[in-house]
Amino acid sequence: MAEKNLIAWSVDAADYPTSGEIDEKLEFLLNYAVLAPSGPNNQPWKLALDGSEVTVKADFGRSLPDVEPTNRTMYMSLGCLLTNLLIAAEHFGLGYRVEKFPEGIDAETIAVVKFQEDGGASPQFPPYLFDEITERHTNRGAYDDRPIEADKIETMKAAVGDGGFRLDVLTDPAERAAMAEVLGESHRIQLGNKAFRKDLARWIRRNDEDAWDGLPGYAFGYSDFESYFGKFVFGTFDTSSSRAKKEMALMRASPAVGILSTDAEDKGTWVEAGMRFERLFLTATKLGVRFDLFSQPVAIGELRERMADILGAEYPQILIRMGYAPPAKHTPRRTAEMVLAGR
Ligand SMILES: Cc1cc2nc3c(=O)[nH]c(=O)nc-3n(C[C@H](O)[C@H](O)[C@H](O)COP(=O)(O)O)c2cc1C
Repeated sequence: MAEKNLIAWSVDAADYPTSGEIDEKLEFLLNYAVLAPSGPNNQPWKLALDGSEVTVKADFGRSLPDVEPTNRTMYMSLGCLLTNLLIAAEHFGLGYRVEKFPEGIDAETIAVVKFQEDGGASPQFPPYLFDEITERHTNRGAYDDRPIEADKIETMKAAVGDGGFRLDVLTDPAERAAMAEVLGESHRIQLGNKAFRKDLARWIRRNDEDAWDGLPGYAFGYSDFESYFGKFVFGTFDTSSSRAKKEMALMRASPAVGILSTDAEDKGTWVEAGMRFERLFLTATKLGVRFDLFSQPVAIGELRERMADILGAEYPQILIRMGYAPPAKHTPRRTAEMVLAGR
């Protein structure tokens, strides 16, 4: 029996209310939306359901002002949720129209999605991505040294697409080492900053905590005992140098490092980048490729520029360690019911 706070992952497509009203169907789709990844699993979303419309809002109460004052990661996470929602709609044959940042509505509203019973326009997503929503997870363990096949890399690049968005995948050891240096430096700068650590520590959890959000120690490979002290240690002491060393070694030893970049830098682009990122993450899951994610270097101007120079890209948005490994355990998620009720 799964822990209570992992119950959201047990959603079963067989329970879809095929002969129910559209609002019942949409409520079911939200079970897939809330499985999206988010910064430190802060799940910065509010959802509202009204007839055949779903409104996706940012929950600024879940932001991390000292970690990312621009809320860039928050907007990306909301984009991930939108992709899950649309993939689920297509799976169950519902059509939709997405209006992002509708005019004249409050600043929290990211998108209003209007659904219809008839499938409408042609599908935007490969149908096989649906089954990956419940399988996808971040994997912070060591990866095998087996290379990622060239055709899989091409499939992942195609999942991100173009038109101002791109995925670079570095497989050359010297290039991977250069990104590992950038990552190491970002850890040393950020984790050496007490306000940053305090902000992030709010989302660190003991393994046995029954919280519905945040990062349990096991996600970083910590035992129950270690996880008991994790929050205190992280918030109180500067552990940046050991963390930096560990993550740099993992990155150097992994077969590939990916960077999703954009040509523009505004909240609309971040939401779209998140949408494409989730499509990429689900595609990788289908291909058996694991991801470990890093926002830190993107948050520091000078390091982000260094990344951009290495790639010849405009705005790197997320750094990804990629490779093969056995599956890791899911992290807690608020259920759709809780999110709808504002809990
Ligand atoms: C936009 C974005 C940025 C992220 N940045 C980081 C990061 O800097 N460091 C990290 O350890 N995980 C990062 N993650 C991974 C999340 O912590 C992870 O998705 C979340 O804990 C939920 O776990 P799951 O992906 O296994 O469902 C990021 C995820 C997203 C969507």
